[in-house]
Amino acid sequence: MINEELHTYLEELIPERQPLFAEMESYAKIHHVPIMELAGIESMLQLLRIHHSKTILEVGTAIGYSALRMAEALPTAQIVTIERDEERILAAEEFFKRTSLSGNIHLIKGDALEVSELAGHYAPFDAVFIDAAKGQYKKFFEIYSKYLSAGGMIITDNVLFKGLVAEKEIESKRTRNLVKKINEFNHWLMKHPDFDSVILPVGDGVAISKRRGESN
Ligand SMILES: C[S@@+](CC[C@H](N)C(=O)[O-])C[C@H]1O[C@@H](n2cnc3c(N)ncnc32)[C@H](O)[C@@H]1O
Repeated sequence: MINEELHTYLEELIPERQPLFAEMESYAKIHHVPIMELAGIESMLQLLRIHHSKTILEVGTAIGYSALRMAEALPTAQIVTIERDEERILAAEEFFKRTSLSGNIHLIKGDALEVSELAGHYAPFDAVFIDAAKGQYKKFFEIYSKYLSAGGMIITDNVLFKGLVAEKEIESKRTRNLVKKINEFNHWLMKHPDFDSVILPVGDGVAISKRRGESN
């Protein structure tokens, strides 16, 4: 997205995270768990602070890194987060237990395409953060935008997918199909009649969407 030197420069400017977050970042690296890129998460946290989001729904907990970062950045916010992978659920629960923030996080175990009613009990949400299976973004957006509070926003990560969305030739068929789906989602989102959206080339590409005509 930006050149390597500038990327390193920006990452080095980001303040050190507390030891638990640094441990989670290492854990994610070692166990190949995709967590949000640093510049992406810092941008999202700042947006959530400015927006004063009090209730946040996250689709895609993984090991709970972004959920805990949001809980720390917004100490009065309630965070509901959905994950379907059992191993990651266990890891997230272990990390949550080690903080004083766990009371603000509610983990829903299951497929986000199936547990929306459960998540709906905590609605409305000031912010919905979509960070799960990239091929299903449109479905997640359609399902969970219903639970958005007036003036709420939807943040979607990985919409530029390492810059591959702009690549013409992609060798792997699987990657090509995924890129096609993300591209379709991006075009659909940018033309959505009910939402104003912008795609920021930060981290892995972050889309910010807000329902038209609503202020908070
Ligand atoms: C990119 S990771 C989430 C990273 C996390 N938000 C962070 O930044 O720390 C995506 C996670 O979404 C989960 N996931 C994918 N599709 C899902 C679905 N349909 N329902 C629930 N979880 C899903 C995956 O198991 C994976 O752990």
